Amino acid sequence: MILRSLLFNTESVFMVKTKKVKMVGLHLRRWTLLAVCAGVNICVLAQDRIIPMETIGNALVLKVDQKKDVSIIYYGKKLNDRGEYGLIPQAYKLTGDGDYTQVLNAAYSGSGSRNLMEPAISVTHADGNNSLDLRYVSDDQQQFGPDVTQYRVLLKDPVYDFEVALYYKVYIKQDVIEQWSVIKHNEKGNVVLHKYASANLYLKADEFWLNQYHGDWAKEMQPEESKITHGIKTLDTKLGTRANLFQPSVFMVSLGKPAGEDEGTVLYCALEYSGNFRTDLELDFQDNLRIISGINNYASPYTLKPGEEFVTPGFLYILSHKGKGYASRQLHDWARNYKLLDGKGNRLTLLNNWEATYFDFNESRLKELLKDTKKLGVDLFLLDDGWFANKYPRNGDTSGLGDWQENKSKLPNGIATLVKEAGNNGVKFGIWVEPEMVNPKSELYEKHPDWVVKQPARAEHYFRNQLVLDLANPQVQDFVFSVIDNLVTKNPALAYIKWDCNAVIFNAHSAYLKNQSHFFIEYMRGLYAVLKKLRDKYPTVPMMLCSGGGGRVDYAALQYFTEYWPSDNTDPLERVFIQWEYSYFYPAIAGANHVTDWGKQPIKYRTDVAMMGKLGFDIVVSHLNEKDLTYCQNAIKEYNSFKQIVWQGDQYRLANPREGAVASMSYVSKDQSSAVVFNYLVNNRYGQGSSHPVKLKGLDPVAVYRVTEVALYPGVNSVIDADKKYSGQFLMDVGFNPQVNSGRTSVVLKVQRVK
Ligand code: GLA
Repeated sequence: MILRSLLFNTESVFMVKTKKVKMVGLHLRRWTLLAVCAGVNICVLAQDRIIPMETIGNALVLKVDQKKDVSIIYYGKKLNDRGEYGLIPQAYKLTGDGDYTQVLNAAYSGSGSRNLMEPAISVTHADGNNSLDLRYVSDDQQQFGPDVTQYRVLLKDPVYDFEVALYYKVYIKQDVIEQWSVIKHNEKGNVVLHKYASANLYLKADEFWLNQYHGDWAKEMQPEESKITHGIKTLDTKLGTRANLFQPSVFMVSLGKPAGEDEGTVLYCALEYSGNFRTDLELDFQDNLRIISGINNYASPYTLKPGEEFVTPGFLYILSHKGKGYASRQLHDWARNYKLLDGKGNRLTLLNNWEATYFDFNESRLKELLKDTKKLGVDLFLLDDGWFANKYPRNGDTSGLGDWQENKSKLPNGIATLVKEAGNNGVKFGIWVEPEMVNPKSELYEKHPDWVVKQPARAEHYFRNQLVLDLANPQVQDFVFSVIDNLVTKNPALAYIKWDCNAVIFNAHSAYLKNQSHFFIEYMRGLYAVLKKLRDKYPTVPMMLCSGGGGRVDYAALQYFTEYWPSDNTDPLERVFIQWEYSYFYPAIAGANHVTDWGKQPIKYRTDVAMMGKLGFDIVVSHLNEKDLTYCQNAIKEYNSFKQIVWQGDQYRLANPREGAVASMSYVSKDQSSAVVFNYLVNNRYGQGSSHPVKLKGLDPVAVYRVTEVALYPGVNSVIDADKKYSGQFLMDVGFNPQVNSGRTSVVLKVQRVK
């Protein structure tokens, strides 16, 4: 294997003798192996080996030098002449020049030997030694169809039988790279991994600007942008479950200056992991940016047995030289094609009863709501929290969680009757579960206190009156699987599941695990094992990823879910901002948006905002006045006519709500024949509105389009002249004024090619 991948370059035979290393040269076709080494086996290579990993627009280039150090020499625009990548180090003068360590730009930084910066990996070997030096052994590549190439670079410590394989999965058309590491050893005893990042990147630019996010319940995705200064900036979470509550793992780094929507160089990054993550952004003493991302090593030194593989989660990144818009569209395409469950498929519109009833409902009330579901015109009724538990009925959030039997007084005939009744009404039925959690007031807790994450000798501390079940324990994994499995087995027509996760982990401790340091990691392994098993058995049931809002949105989870719940905050004005920020990283088809009674905006505004994704309702339909109901019914029909453009089209952010009184977002069909443009007033001060035309994007400049206003409130005539025609160029260079003002706070436009 090693030799296979070494067979590349020159026609040379070498004999090299160094102080400690005696080498006998081999005659190889291209360049590589100078020697089989005796003693301390640091082999020397005849010349540098360049490994360019190219997408349509970019190249991430590794260099293996003669000492077999593997470094990142370039991540930037693809060069036409691949041979020129080898010239890059001298252009940047990467070597010498005060890099005392000579591993500043290492492809994967070790610790305890030459590296003086933040490491990607840090270990204690079986013999107690703390040093690690990773040198090149081989590289190879694998093709997954014409558009995906996976590179593997194997590194090994010359002194210890310890290796790391770096994997780069390159999605050529989308400019996306997923990088992860597989760590393994064959030492005489266990090795302790103190740090085990998925990747470290190394970037060169005059300045770096970090766009990061913070939040809390109902305040998800608050952006902050700042210039990166020397030292380390860490983005991390230690919450275990609901890990994104205060900080999601997604972020952007602009190179040179802050990138705009259509200009500037920007790198989007995300760790594909739903548990504790940690990203260090280190501006080093030579002004280069090192980005090191992976599972958070907080409270988690990992004991790795000989022969065991430690596979890190994927670190996802995409580089754009055309601003944030291009990066988003590429990432959306990638997600729909490769990651998000059923990313190219259909989604169901729905009526949810959470805010309509909270815990207060019974069978007859739900039967009314099923009728309302039909009346409204959506596809599915979603029964939320409160349908289960008997000894400690789930009539509030203080009890019952864990006891997944239908509550007999609320639902004497069970879920099956409701599923059937839904069918009689011509709609589908979905259900809420929160299977990872338990209320102390539950039969589950009484029966299995050892299944609960808690410190044996400390007082319990609750988050939303509940505790987390120990998914590190295989019995708990089986239990969590059975919650869903039983529901679907008993009700094969069940068409939707909302999987919630409301608590963080306090007092992290597993009664099952021997090594508590493995808890956070084993929890996530357990969760993914359950999700995988569910998806193996039920590959298509749509499932919403909810975590008291957007506390758990990431691309590892989204491979098992068709959609996520961005926030419990459904105030449409707030939502314009929240959805805007999510849109940088996630495609609209993945975002579940519900029309509720939050906020002061009229029903049209609330519905229009929810249409920028997957539309749902969480209102009392019978409380709607006639016109509001008619509006909703028509809007749903309208939405059904253009939802494919929103879900599968290209998204263009036209006017940022943080920068003006009007927010505009558009979706353009891939063939550029139609677009939907959503416009909202986001500032209620006197006289605010769309004082200028909004410049559309993504249209065909030479095509001719007609612009019509859709989703009109009953009785309202549009001020938009639907008879006028415009060239694509006009709409993009001059723009179109949606005429948003205090009397028209929400305007949806449909743009259609006429020739
Ligand atoms: C969380 C979810 C809500 C709802 C409640 C039910 O807060 O985000 O949508 O399902 O739980 O308890």
